[in-house]
Amino acid sequence: MTVVFSGIQPSGETHIGNYLGAIRHWAVDQHEHTSYYCVVDLHSLTTPHDPAELRSKSLAMATMLVACGLDPDVCTIFVQSHVAEHTRLAWLLECTASIGELQRMTQFKDKSARTSGEFISAGLLTYPTLMTADIVLYDTDRVPVGEDQRQHIELARDVAIRFNSRYGETFVVPQGAIPKTGARVMDLQEPTNKMSKSVDSPQGTVMVLDPPDVIERKLSRAVTDSDGEVRFDVAAKPGVSNLLSILAASTGESVEALAGRYTQYGPLKKDTAAALIEALRPARERY
Ligand code: TYM
Repeated sequence: MTVVFSGIQPSGETHIGNYLGAIRHWAVDQHEHTSYYCVVDLHSLTTPHDPAELRSKSLAMATMLVACGLDPDVCTIFVQSHVAEHTRLAWLLECTASIGELQRMTQFKDKSARTSGEFISAGLLTYPTLMTADIVLYDTDRVPVGEDQRQHIELARDVAIRFNSRYGETFVVPQGAIPKTGARVMDLQEPTNKMSKSVDSPQGTVMVLDPPDVIERKLSRAVTDSDGEVRFDVAAKPGVSNLLSILAASTGESVEALAGRYTQYGPLKKDTAAALIEALRPARERY
């Protein structure tokens, strides 16, 4: 039986990147595999936080996961800090990973650059070893995540292989499962940046709980470009390509097929908003 594990930080509100890139696939996987989904509150301690607020956000995130279709009778939903083995194993894995490989993690470089001059916790550096512990603790085969976690999964594999070769076969070496569409949803206002909980861009970020009129407004103001041609080309046309990706992820169609159907940005924005509103409706109503 394949074992699935994935996690989400309770910091910040859940946005469509989290939903399209990860959570909606968890809802499918739970019916096919033994699945564990974790609210990774300990990961949110790496950056400034208010402890009481984080506790209530953990509960809100668990509520969100259930609203998005995770069924506690079918999969296991839990809070990371309630299972002490995550931090116990993290220490063994910290002693298995090298400082060099942790310093090469793009998320560490980005987040520490963003907070440069301010306090940067040691936990921000060692974070991927805690993530590795989360995964290998459950003999996980498959880790459904968005594109931004690819490098962390590669590290988890390297660390598991190194541990096994030093101390004998102990851990299953996990595989990442990254979806074809929706794996990297970009900010609507700055389409060369990933949509993110930790970046303050209220107009560029669509929340799962945004009401339909707010989604329509944010999509109608999405930044595109001035050449007026609808085509999927992430490097040359990041804004239009992002809209096509969101539309594709919301409808299940391919970006290429969709691109052929539009000649103007207005209708593309309108249809993307409508498809997204429908895709999010069950989660919004259940929440
Ligand atoms: P987190 O909380 O940042 O994000 C949760 C999930 O959402 C995906 N995601 C996106 N997908 C597409 N487009 C985006 N703009 C976007 N933003 C976020 C993420 O890839 C992720 O799948 N380190 C992890 C949490 C974690 C974890 C784990 C994941 C801790 N332990 C073990 C898997 C296995 C994180 O901070 O995700």
